[in-house]
Amino acid sequence: MAPKDIDDLVLPKIKGKKEKKGTELSDKDMVMVEELIKVYKSGKLEVTALRGVSTSIKRGEIVAIIGPSGCGKTTLLNIIGGLDDATAGKVFVDGKNIRNMKEEKLVQFRRKTVGFIFQNFNLIPSLTARQNIELPMRLNKLPMDTRKERITKLFKSIGLEDRMDHRPEQLSGGEQQRIAFAVALANDPPLILADEPTGELDTHTGQEIMEIFKALSRQLGKTEIIVTHDPRIADFADRTLKIIDGKIVGDE
Ligand SMILES: Nc1ncnc2c1ncn2[C@@H]1O[C@H](COP(=O)(O)OP(=O)(O)OP(=O)(O)O)[C@@H](O)[C@H]1O
Ligand SMILES: [Mg+2]
Repeated sequence: MAPKDIDDLVLPKIKGKKEKKGTELSDKDMVMVEELIKVYKSGKLEVTALRGVSTSIKRGEIVAIIGPSGCGKTTLLNIIGGLDDATAGKVFVDGKNIRNMKEEKLVQFRRKTVGFIFQNFNLIPSLTARQNIELPMRLNKLPMDTRKERITKLFKSIGLEDRMDHRPEQLSGGEQQRIAFAVALANDPPLILADEPTGELDTHTGQEIMEIFKALSRQLGKTEIIVTHDPRIADFADRTLKIIDGKIVGDE
């Protein structure tokens, strides 16, 4: 299915299919990492968070990353999203070698290519839902008409048209995470990275959120990487990467 524009939103239900794996860079890959190593240094203390991670993720794939606390899930996600640099190895996202990018290019990369979703929703408390969604579009200098149109469509797609003018504290956790998803989609990035997006939600709400994420990601042709502790959440993915102690030990 060809990726559609965010401006063509309607909510369908489409079943996922499994894709082949491999680490050679191809046009079909949204993400390719090779022999990724991350060592955190603080003073004399060194922690090796990633010990040679190689994988590729196809455009349109929904991938779950699971593994015990401290195994390197967030580290890997942050490196793919250009929030942190690796110590060694290759990182290609949307065909670009992001480890070579200067800071200004990386800022552009994060703004246009990646939408982030975090466990604690990361909405700005003083802004309304509408203003939270509009902010990344303003930073991306989208004209007012486009912003307005997208905001209307995004609210409709997450089913929260009647909550546009509420501030985060006036919304439930599940509603806040739906807004956070719309914030991540605001600039229509091809890649969505979510770190424990359902971690603060009860099981039922978490599953509801995942259904919305999945349906919208499919419809818009987004690639999505979701870090989770919860195997029921991983069931929504096309593929699950299991990490233990900084290495991929399972890929199915
Ligand atoms: N900024 C940092 N400085 C030093 N060590 C760090 C830093 N960030 C993470 N680490 C260490 O790197 C390892 C991997 O951390 P990471 O946050 O990637 O784990 P995780 O799999 O996301 O865990 P969790 O499920 O608890 O979120 C851990 O041992 C952690 O203590
Ligand atoms: Mg983490």
